[in-house]
Amino acid sequence: MGTNTLAITDNRTGKSYEIAIEHDTIRALDLRRIKVSEDDFGLMTYDPAFMNTASCHSRITYIDGDKGILRYRGYPIEELAEGSSYLETAYLVLYGELPTSDELKAWIHNVTYHTFIHENIKTFMDGFHYDAHPMGILVSTVAALSTFYVDAKNIFDPESRKKQTHRLIAKMPTLAAFAYRHSRGMPYSYPDNALSYTENFLNMLFKMSEVKYQPNPTLARALDVLFILHADHEQNCSTNAMRSVGSSHVDPYSAVAAAAAALYGPLHGGANEAVLKMLAEIGAKDQVPGFVKRVKAGEGRLMGFGHRVYKNYDPRAKIIKRVAEEVFEVTGRNPLLDIAVELERIALEDEYFIQRKLYPNVDFYSGIIYQAMGFPVEMFPVLFAIPRTSGWIAQWEEMLSDSEQKIARPRQVYLGEAQRKFVPLERRGANPGKGRV
Ligand code: SDX
Repeated sequence: MGTNTLAITDNRTGKSYEIAIEHDTIRALDLRRIKVSEDDFGLMTYDPAFMNTASCHSRITYIDGDKGILRYRGYPIEELAEGSSYLETAYLVLYGELPTSDELKAWIHNVTYHTFIHENIKTFMDGFHYDAHPMGILVSTVAALSTFYVDAKNIFDPESRKKQTHRLIAKMPTLAAFAYRHSRGMPYSYPDNALSYTENFLNMLFKMSEVKYQPNPTLARALDVLFILHADHEQNCSTNAMRSVGSSHVDPYSAVAAAAAALYGPLHGGANEAVLKMLAEIGAKDQVPGFVKRVKAGEGRLMGFGHRVYKNYDPRAKIIKRVAEEVFEVTGRNPLLDIAVELERIALEDEYFIQRKLYPNVDFYSGIIYQAMGFPVEMFPVLFAIPRTSGWIAQWEEMLSDSEQKIARPRQVYLGEAQRKFVPLERRGANPGKGRV
């Protein structure tokens, strides 16, 4: 075995360089030594969408895309989904260890007693149009929280960060439920602190005129497992937004709002909403072959399939498929499931998808469950943002405490115009601009 270095010869100059290899990476800054002259800036890497670039060291989540492995702080997702709760998993993601009994009790108490939101947020929320998308409301209202908790700007005070963590984990379900109730023209249902995290969320969503909401334990547990599966996922698009925006040292509410905005996109957290719309458009099992043919012809994507990292079955999708059967025992079977199962069966046998290593991801089955539980499709990305808040905060704290991290400011390759002289308006003549306005 040779040394942990890369020998590079620059054929432009004939010079050779040795670049250190650490954790199977080279430091991009080391490439700046490779120059054609003393005043040359030196080499950079060019990597649109960061297809092959590590932006940080992290100890939170490990994914092996080829083997379909997902672990939070070393614990397999399958074992956490089986034996843990969302709040316990959130503690693990945030603090690195499973809590002791006393730590868990204190953690649950702190989160439970921060579920209420300032009454002015209701007034703010009432300003949205009746059919405003709940994800747009959530992004706006979590940003608005930064104006209520000005102490959140003390991001290097551990006690302040802990308090904002309690507030964010606790209030996201309240904001989400209030956004849902607003979109239904229904009165807000306040938190019931005698209920568990997901039971209380169901209470704030679905309580009607009964004195005390009685959550269905199967549905509450199913939602808790879905929240566990969505708690973190290393450097996904929304986490990258959290780290990048957080690197400017803004408060965590503003950074979470940016992360939630990234998650809103149909290629990321909006995918399960797109899956439901896709399945509804397919309409029946016998229409699946025609749909697959159109995807292979480049007419759109098979939403809920494919992943930047997983080139095997997303382990979360396997667990969600099991949860679906438990939910349907209570809610009745969602007919879209049969279309989804047929679509998966056909796609997994088709060379187009096999060659591109496209398998079901976390979003392929989650929407079918949420719809069966009574959630409108617009709520799906909101149901993703709630649990991912623990991952976003964990990644944000890790970034803040990493001495190598600075404000995120990528370089570029400039391919634009060389210097040219300004032309006064009267001398421009017929504009060759091809009708830009
Ligand atoms: C999430 O990053 C995370 O961890 C995200 C997430 C998390 O927990 O945070 O796991 C959650 O966002 C899951 C992904 C949800 N999105 C979707 O299901 C939308 C559909 N999937 C894709 O659009 C796509 O697969 C991505 C966005 C997920 C990944 O895209 P990549 O890695 O940039 O891959 P690509 O777009 O370069 O595609 C590679 C090839 C292309 O074909 P060619 O141009 O080489 O011929 O695969 C094709 C793509 O056209 N392709 C698909 C496809 N996804 C990729 N073709 C049909 N259907 C698809 N779904």
